Amino acid sequence: MGNVHVIDHPLVQHKLTLMRRKDASTNSFRRLLGELAMLMAYEVTRDMPMQEIDIETPLEAMKSKVIDGKKLVLVSILRAGNGILEGMLSVVPGARVGHIGLYRDPKTLTAVEYYFKMPSEMHERDVVVVDPMLATGNSAVAAVDRLKELNPKSIKFVCLLAAPEGVATLQAAHPDVPIYTAAIDRQLNDHGYILPGLGDAGDRIFGTK
Ligand code: URA
Repeated sequence: MGNVHVIDHPLVQHKLTLMRRKDASTNSFRRLLGELAMLMAYEVTRDMPMQEIDIETPLEAMKSKVIDGKKLVLVSILRAGNGILEGMLSVVPGARVGHIGLYRDPKTLTAVEYYFKMPSEMHERDVVVVDPMLATGNSAVAAVDRLKELNPKSIKFVCLLAAPEGVATLQAAHPDVPIYTAAIDRQLNDHGYILPGLGDAGDRIFGTK
């Protein structure tokens, strides 16, 4: 599949397996998601632009690299996106944060927006959209549609699990948006859940039902 990066690092795959198990507690599910998000942040930020600055070590002056440009924006699709957001913020603590509230209409499975709040100067920023599950792809497409109205420099999409249907939908609508995921599962069921999946990510993160 075109612009899709499956992060098949052993640590990522091991943690994902632990999260999928139905008997994983809320506590361990949330902790594992945070750890996975840190590992994924490492891959997703690999091509961030750098600049050299002058610094002084205790011994001498040198030129050394720092990340260039305006701060990255992490955009969480509420509410499950917040599970990934926190892990990513622990490795990119200076990132700005946006939130998009979308719920899935249970009948049509289309995305309905109820909240949208972004940092300023989005046209000068790179954006990473986070949502653990790329299922139908409808929320992802709606989020990217809205973000593109603000004309950011780039947009990437990060999830934990993707369904082939969701990947196809997002890529058809936004082929310029690379997708980073830990796995692409078999299919969606009739209710829009990923199979074999890991269940409802929001419920598992927050211990709701
Ligand atoms: N959202 C979830 O939380 N789980 C799925 O399997 C699909 C969408």
